[in-house]
Amino acid sequence: MADIESLLKEKRVFKPKPEFSRQANWKKSTINEYRRLGAKNPERFWAKMARENVSWFTRWKKVLQWKAPNAKWFVGGKLNVSYNCIDRHLEGDNAWRRNKAAIIWEGEPGDSRVITYGELHREVCKFANVLKGLGVKKGDRVAFYMPMVPELAIAMLACTRIGATHSIVFGGFSAESLRDRINDAGAKVVVTADGGYRRGAPFPLKPAVDDALKGAECVEKVVVVKRTGTQTEMTAGRDLWWHEQMQGASTKCAPAKLDAEHPLFILYTSGTTGKPKGILHTTGGYLTHVTTTAQAIFDLKDEDVYWCTADIGWITGHSYVIYGVLANGATTLMYEGVPTHPAPDRWWEIIEKWGVTVFYTAPTAIRTFIRLGDEHPNGRDLSSLRLLGSVGEPINPEAWIWYNKVIGKRRCPIVDTWWQTETGGIMITPLPAGVDTKPGSATLPFPGVDAAILDDDGDEVEPPNGGFLAIRKPWPGMMRGIWGDPQRFRETYWSKWKDIYFAGDGAHRDKQGYFWIMGRVDDVMNISGHRIGTMEVESALVSHADVAEAAVVGRPDAITGTAIVAFVTPRGGVVYGDTLSKTLRDQVAKEIGAIAKPAEIRFTDALPKTRSGKIMRRLLRDIAEGKESVGDTTTLEDYSVLARLRGDE
Ligand code: PRX
Repeated sequence: MADIESLLKEKRVFKPKPEFSRQANWKKSTINEYRRLGAKNPERFWAKMARENVSWFTRWKKVLQWKAPNAKWFVGGKLNVSYNCIDRHLEGDNAWRRNKAAIIWEGEPGDSRVITYGELHREVCKFANVLKGLGVKKGDRVAFYMPMVPELAIAMLACTRIGATHSIVFGGFSAESLRDRINDAGAKVVVTADGGYRRGAPFPLKPAVDDALKGAECVEKVVVVKRTGTQTEMTAGRDLWWHEQMQGASTKCAPAKLDAEHPLFILYTSGTTGKPKGILHTTGGYLTHVTTTAQAIFDLKDEDVYWCTADIGWITGHSYVIYGVLANGATTLMYEGVPTHPAPDRWWEIIEKWGVTVFYTAPTAIRTFIRLGDEHPNGRDLSSLRLLGSVGEPINPEAWIWYNKVIGKRRCPIVDTWWQTETGGIMITPLPAGVDTKPGSATLPFPGVDAAILDDDGDEVEPPNGGFLAIRKPWPGMMRGIWGDPQRFRETYWSKWKDIYFAGDGAHRDKQGYFWIMGRVDDVMNISGHRIGTMEVESALVSHADVAEAAVVGRPDAITGTAIVAFVTPRGGVVYGDTLSKTLRDQVAKEIGAIAKPAEIRFTDALPKTRSGKIMRRLLRDIAEGKESVGDTTTLEDYSVLARLRGDE
């Protein structure tokens, strides 16, 4: 509530600038027309977008087949994602794009590569042929465990060319996490690298794959990109070097004509249980959604150099580093390393070096840069920038204002985009030529998206009251299920209300109908824009022999948005203190990945529970935040536990 109140006090409004609006892809009149059409007949609106923005081999017969919670979009339509992202930019009127940069890649050590559309076509065809040679067929799954290198983009597009379904696992996840995801998806091939660069030093990736594969029988081949040149063990008969495979591979590979509902990719995300969910996205609807939103929201033009700082291991990287951007024939920039290496102005140096025009990043990064000082961005020429975006978590008004002033020099519109792994593409967002922005608000639903704030009963909540964010009608980029678990799909997203999508976020609307997203209402934390389930961290902790019980909560953090606090009850007789604390943090890194390491571990000999045995998380959150008042504790099983946790005893 305190958050809602502070945001409600935010009264500043920023109007679109006429200079921007005049040149926008979607002008005010178009936006109004699409809003009307999208509200009256969303299927007609999306069909228009699918016709105008995506190339089809065969036109669909039916726009939408909706038997909640299962949607089929563009039924009977046939297309290919790599064709849309590459080939069509080399044909007819677009043929001039052959030598246009598709990908500008900046390595952390300062090396760089520019890959044109023509070159991308050759490389993608070659790798598609390599995959075929390894026995990968339409519908087979290929897992990725990669640094941010161009080969990752090439391999993704190669999968889409032949209809293999990719499952990209963020390189920061542990071997254990990788194994679970490989097994769950039943991947036949893994694409990885010897390593990547981080903070000036190479880090290894391949050893984690070797570890993961000790318990993953489904994998037949591993393709390894040589990035760092570090000594890498290769298992004969299983492991193959990318460069050796690519040598002599044919540059011709016809794109497969795939059904609109063909599985494009699986991407795992945290939920409220210990097991991550494999979110499934398919071909035609997803591509329509991401291509249309990228064109409208980022206002992509042929002259743009677009940079989204997300790692491709997350949904933002899938939709808005690769697919949505390349489908528009734009230039996408990929950066391999950390934002502050070798100096705190690395990102701003990249913007200056490549003349970045559209920049999309996360609030946690913005807050980090605020703390590092304005002299870093001020020391670089950022005048090429014309539009800024934010994603991943609520952006606090202070960070918004700084972003506008110090990075955008008060010239650039800011689009604060709300969406999720499950939604595939952006759902609530300003349109830069047509929506007044308010710092901290994602503003209004994209045309054709029916978002609302509902209460427990599914009734719409009156402004300014808070409630649950819901999507009432199907949309083309929506997830098609949880891989191998239709029941969990139903229960997680479609059981709160009848045939309405439950997003898991709390939100409220103001009098103008603007959405203000307040964050997760389930047991999922948002750490630096990354979703981590409390249960995942808890199971990682209790898998250690010294731990009897653990409860994990998030507490607000000035930089990462949320920090993980773990309350741990050690087993009897275990000596606890800093050493165990470190051991347990390492344990979480080993089980899940370094991103899930608790910021703080508090030991306690009992956890506060209700009489029915439920851990009182709300209370633990208050304690973690150091709040004086800890609310109603009358249902506490053991009052003394509370005092001990607070540190009163
Ligand atoms: O809580 C919302 C938050 O991130 C969650 C989705 O996380 P993920 O699936 O990892 O995708 C992140 C990138 C799309 C949401 O449920 N979130 C995302 N964008 C915003 C946001 N919260 C507030 N404002 C946003 N713009």
